Amino acid sequence: MLVRLMYASRAVPAVDQDRLLAILRQSKAHNPTLGITGVLCFSEGIFLQVLEGGRSAVNRLYNRIVADPCHTDVELLCYEEIGERRFAGWSMGQVSMARLNPALLLKYSERPVLDPYAVSGAVSMALFDELIATASIVGQP
Ligand SMILES: Cc1cc2nc3c(=O)[nH]c(=O)nc-3n(C[C@H](O)[C@H](O)[C@H](O)COP(=O)(O)O)c2cc1C
Repeated sequence: MLVRLMYASRAVPAVDQDRLLAILRQSKAHNPTLGITGVLCFSEGIFLQVLEGGRSAVNRLYNRIVADPCHTDVELLCYEEIGERRFAGWSMGQVSMARLNPALLLKYSERPVLDPYAVSGAVSMALFDELIATASIVGQP
């Protein structure tokens, strides 16, 4: 049984580019064994992550991530049972903010910034769908 989970969180001030790369490294090391795929977006101190995989594996990983001191205010935005994955190609893809067109952010929000706390889970998921369609996700499977 597959599920998809999406959450947002605020990075603690100590999170810099090196820490972000370490998180992506950990994800790429662990997730394939767990059968988990997904995407991580980091912009202006806000994380937005989608995890897909077996229900138990996703729930266990989410609980571990929530306890990570690198972030606070972890807010569950979406949890659904799914028939198929959307991010099967990425053990943990990274949204390239450099490739992100501000017009895409404006399409879904009041200002051209990533603020998942201000929009519905459905809107954040729609944004992720467009990121895939516009090849804004980088990182090997
Ligand atoms: C925003 C965020 C996303 C994370 N995503 C993942 C992930 O997808 N997979 C993973 O194994 N760890 C992820 N982590 C790291 C875990 O919270 C945890 O630190 C790590 O799995 C522990 O790895 P270790 O046992 O090798 O030290 C994430 C952490 C943060 C802050």
